[in-house]
Amino acid sequence: MTKKICVLPGDGIGPEITAEAVKVLQALNLGLEMEEGLLGGCAVDATGNPYPEATQKLAQEADAVLLGAVGGPKWDNLPREQRPERGLLGIRKQLGLFANLRPAILYPELANASTLKPEVVAGLDILIVRELTGDIYFGQPRGIEVRDVDGQQQRFGFNTMHYTESEIRRIGRVAFEAARKRNKKLCSVDKMNVLETTQLWRDVMNELAPEYPDVELTHMLVDNAAMQLVKAPKQFDVMVTGNMFGDILSDEASMLTGSIGMLPSASLDANNKGLYEPSHGSAPDIAGKGVANPLATILSAAMMLRYTFNLEEAALTVENAVKRVLAQGYRTGDIYETGTKRVGTREMGDAVLAA
Ligand code: NAI
Ligand code: MG
Repeated sequence: MTKKICVLPGDGIGPEITAEAVKVLQALNLGLEMEEGLLGGCAVDATGNPYPEATQKLAQEADAVLLGAVGGPKWDNLPREQRPERGLLGIRKQLGLFANLRPAILYPELANASTLKPEVVAGLDILIVRELTGDIYFGQPRGIEVRDVDGQQQRFGFNTMHYTESEIRRIGRVAFEAARKRNKKLCSVDKMNVLETTQLWRDVMNELAPEYPDVELTHMLVDNAAMQLVKAPKQFDVMVTGNMFGDILSDEASMLTGSIGMLPSASLDANNKGLYEPSHGSAPDIAGKGVANPLATILSAAMMLRYTFNLEEAALTVENAVKRVLAQGYRTGDIYETGTKRVGTREMGDAVLAA
């Protein structure tokens, strides 16, 4: 099997942090082929298009995409279709990436970064699996219209929530498989007491369960899930939910750890082709200074090894190296505390490589 990676550094701190992740991937000697392309503001500057055709070809031919971040104030006043974010939406849509995986891990060395009490979050290691292409965000009909309601002409806003059973089944499978590779506990989140769409969601998850007898499936209503994530987040292993609930819960879960520079993400298609990127943006305020934290991008590369290339051992090698550099006291500015060693982007990458 070829292992082709399309590397899209993007804008702001993107090139600095992806360079470190590429360095780590190369050092593993796994026969990975990497080719760079333009996405986002840098692509707009070079071609007028945030997702140029050359990049589309590269992304479609690759097995996986490693992305830095896109956007920045330089492009904020462009028309909507030329904005860097359009490039991001374009590539996600074109590659059919329907499964968004966001781990939230609190490393013991960074326990003080969380706003929650250490005893509540110490050892936290959860994974949110969010469906990305359906739900009320994309359902038709939708709009704002003037209608005659109760004898009164007034503005009327409406959206439609829907899922097909096949859409639910394919995200369910991704979640069950992910749970199988972890602690074998899956919590499916819905609002079946009020919404029929999510009753179907719960039914399909239950229908899948017999195929994964080694995974324990539970269900939780979304309002309770939001509460439990703050009250006792360590009760969860993998959580799976629809696009809207997942949008909200994944942001909530990621911030339990308090450190944006540490959070990776993966977006997968039906064949485990994936786009891997840090959860943070292009951080224009620190771009070009060599101080950005490359660990979220390095950890995204580890997710690529796990989910696209099925190289679990290599993924663990990278993740353990990250744990070791934290234990050794290396810190970029965003996670710095008195008594630790403050380093820049490249030194952090070098430390991971050495570890
Ligand atoms: P941001 O995540 O870029 O930055 C928020 C804060 O966190 C800043 O103070 C930044 O310096 C810091 N930060 C972020 N990543 C860091 C890292 N690796 N190391 C150290 N500090 C880090 O979010 P913001 O400021 O809202 O957005 C900046 C630009 O990024 C905007 O143009 C936005 O549209 C874009 N963006 C792009 C995303 C993507 O490419 N997926 C996602 C989110 C925002
Ligand atoms: Mg969001």
